[in-house]
Amino acid sequence: MITNLAKFGLLFAILGCTSSYAFAEERILPVLGEPIQPIPIDTSLDPAKVALGEALFNDPRLSKNNSLSCASCHILEAGGDDNMTVGTTLNGVPHVINTPTVFNARYNFRQHWSGAAESLPEQVDLVLRNHMEAGSNWNELLTKLSQDPVLVSSFDNIYSEGLNKENYLDALNTFERSLITPNSRFDQYLLGNTAAITEDEKKGYQRFKEYGCISCHQGINIGGNLFQKFGLFYDYFAERGNITTADYGRINVTNKETDLHVFKVPSLRNVEVTAPYLHDGQAETLEEAVDIMGKTQLGKTFSEGNIELLVMFLKTLTGEYKGQSLAVKNNAIAEADQSSNSNETQNADDDESSLASSGGDGS
Ligand code: HEC
Ligand code: HEC
Repeated sequence: MITNLAKFGLLFAILGCTSSYAFAEERILPVLGEPIQPIPIDTSLDPAKVALGEALFNDPRLSKNNSLSCASCHILEAGGDDNMTVGTTLNGVPHVINTPTVFNARYNFRQHWSGAAESLPEQVDLVLRNHMEAGSNWNELLTKLSQDPVLVSSFDNIYSEGLNKENYLDALNTFERSLITPNSRFDQYLLGNTAAITEDEKKGYQRFKEYGCISCHQGINIGGNLFQKFGLFYDYFAERGNITTADYGRINVTNKETDLHVFKVPSLRNVEVTAPYLHDGQAETLEEAVDIMGKTQLGKTFSEGNIELLVMFLKTLTGEYKGQSLAVKNNAIAEADQSSNSNETQNADDDESSLASSGGDGS
């Protein structure tokens, strides 16, 4: 009896501690009993490096012909991706794979759909050399940038060795680490505000756990910490057809037969604003993506009602960047697009393409 009471007291103490610690900044804290952790606010990043990294992120000199910056394909005002099935490359032809968001990428255990990059700096190295993205090399980029006295002095002010590859990567990496979206309604719920999500959204979360979505999409990024085969119960690729090299997935990196169609489980944070979905961008809506997940990953066909509940839960995962909800920003862009479209009445084709790309040249 005494032991039980003592246990109860201990549990109480732990619970009490957790909720007070959970609000403390900077640390990732497991919320008792929940397989998803809230995003902490990181106050440890050097603001000067973040600002320099932001300038590099927006700098089209990254690419060989000075036409594309990181921000051309990762539009922060539009969810950190490009809202296209597959984006546009350096030479204007379509990319081979859907552009994932840069938001919260720091919490992924690997980068790229296939996990080709082990870290964020390694990912930048790939971008620079990829003929579809920057199509350049370090020598070329650093030579170009060293002719800009303002940029050179920004580096000199922060780094004793000034502008070089290592410091370029450090600044850009620091900026990428600042691209986090805390304070989603679901995180508020995890942190103890049970009224932050509605009863239906709670039901959606229950379904998410009961059906087993949680076995792949979990942790701080609700994904981003596992590789899994796409099409466990159902051959998605046979039905879709036109199989490309990108569809092979992780086998492209490891050459292991067992990695055929294996992908990094993507993060579900902010999925409300990162349509279209899947590595091929073929699911236009969340409803479609969830329906496909049920069939391919769980061997289940969901009723419309259950898809709706799951989607309602997913929409609670939209967080804030610089204190503003990503959803609001994305809507603002859509509205701005519409009003600019209504001003341009002469060329219907242009209107259509700018609607389709939804601000795709926002750099
Ligand atoms: C031409 C468009 C384009 C440009 C320019 C571009 N990216 Fe990407 N980015 C992509 C695509 C497409 C992928 C997915 C590649 C893959 O998985 O094979 C990606 C993947 C990523 C990822 C991995 C995200 C994840 O969840 O796996 C990060 C991080 C990233 N890019 C950051 C950057 C940075 C930083 C720059 C600038 C140095 C940049 N990107 C430039 C299109 C682009
Ligand atoms: C066995 C592991 C696994 C399970 C279970 C699973 N998923 Fe996924 N999920 C993945 C993988 C892998 C992808 C990426 C597939 C691709 O595009 O190649 C993915 C992609 C997604 C996407 C698209 C994300 C994006 O940004 O493109 C959504 C949404 C999603 N899953 C939701 C769910 C939901 C909801 C459930 C439960 C009904 C679920 N998943 C169950 C592994 C899983």
